[in-house]
Amino acid sequence: MLLEWRQADWKPDEVTKMGLRFESVPDGTRITIEHDEWGSLLGDRRGELAGWFAGEVAAPLFQAMGPTRFGDWLTDRRARRPSGAQARAGYRDPVYHRPNFKVILKALSLTPSDFLLEVGCGGGALLQEALRSGCRAAAVDHSPEMVKLAQEVNHDAIRQRRLEVREAEADQLPFPNGKFTCAALTNVFGFLPDPHAVLVEIRRVLAKEGRLVLFTVSPEMRGTIAAPEPMASRIHFYKDEELMKLTREAGFADVRVERPNLEPFAREAGVPEEHIQAFSGRDGQLTIGLKT
Ligand SMILES: C[S@@+](CC[C@H](N)C(=O)[O-])C[C@H]1O[C@@H](n2cnc3c(N)ncnc32)[C@H](O)[C@@H]1O
Repeated sequence: MLLEWRQADWKPDEVTKMGLRFESVPDGTRITIEHDEWGSLLGDRRGELAGWFAGEVAAPLFQAMGPTRFGDWLTDRRARRPSGAQARAGYRDPVYHRPNFKVILKALSLTPSDFLLEVGCGGGALLQEALRSGCRAAAVDHSPEMVKLAQEVNHDAIRQRRLEVREAEADQLPFPNGKFTCAALTNVFGFLPDPHAVLVEIRRVLAKEGRLVLFTVSPEMRGTIAAPEPMASRIHFYKDEELMKLTREAGFADVRVERPNLEPFAREAGVPEEHIQAFSGRDGQLTIGLKT
């Protein structure tokens, strides 16, 4: 890559050249920056300017363009802590997540006497469906933009004091012991750095006989349309046995993992016909537990 910088239009012959050379080396790519012909305009401070360019321009550019940084940025923006107009539009009506919502709601079979907690609620679309049962609910998310969207999408329920949505971390729930009759999580568990702490915290805020329903994407789905890169490399995928072990270790009883066929739920949710096939396997994991 060669950049040429003409410093002043009244001195057209003064050209600064900047070359970037990329070479394949074992374990990566070596990038060499070469400066040439700084020209008389810059006097004798060439070394300083070369340092400025390398440190202030080239290094941050390469850091930002590196696959790791870019992958982290994209994962945060799209899923791990969503932000931006595209995320807000997607989570307002996450049609491809609705089959999971329907499976969760079937497992919970909510009634007006339920008090549901959702952890990692995104734009509040599952809450919106859950509240149709007449239950009360509360939810947390650590993305300020998702909290705002979930509040907006569910403003009627908030006004009627049937719902509160708060910005909080999953392992520090701002609720007292034993407040909820059930808890749901979907598409969030794989991002949690300390899943044990989160399950213990959820158990704390559940009442006796409180039900936990946790939807995750199975390891078989890593790298598919359900869990594409760069997100897939940043999600922890759990085997069924690992989910059961974690849930039991957090103190839940009657723990089981189901592998529901999502296809009928995808049809019911209005997933476009050409994408129904992607829901026909048993690749979603539904972990169910009870606080005794
Ligand atoms: C992939 S989105 C799923 C959103 C929603 N559950 C859905 O299925 O549409 C994951 C959500 O979990 C939230 N989240 C991730 N880690 C969290 C944590 N440690 N505490 C609270 N929220 C978290 C993110 O901000 C994001 O809104």
